[in-house]
Amino acid sequence: MAPALNDNQWLWVPGGEFNGIVNIINAGVPQPKQHPGVMPPKGGGSFTDEQVRAIGAYVYALSHQGGA
Ligand code: HEM
Repeated sequence: MAPALNDNQWLWVPGGEFNGIVNIINAGVPQPKQHPGVMPPKGGGSFTDEQVRAIGAYVYALSHQGGA
């Protein structure tokens, strides 16, 4: 359904940098590269900008363990 977010491979976020993660969460992915269904904006949820940044920080932390 959707790509792993806990590795260092990115389809949409070069380098997995924080602002890029936040941007793709907000925008969603209308035309996925490797998955059959779309990602809706904010994952289909209703979140404030602050909440999206918090989710983005969590995804960033998941994918940057071990100092990578
Ligand atoms: C708040 C919840 C979600 C977060 C934080 C999230 C986060 C992300 C991120 C960071 C990416 C980019 C990954 C990359 O560059 O490799 C992504 C891509 C994607 N997500 Fe989500 N997502 C969420 C919800 C969902 C849901 C609910 C679905 C499906 C119903 C979904 C489907 C996808 C797909 C299809 C892609 C693109 C994969 C491709 O291009 O092949 N996401 N998501």
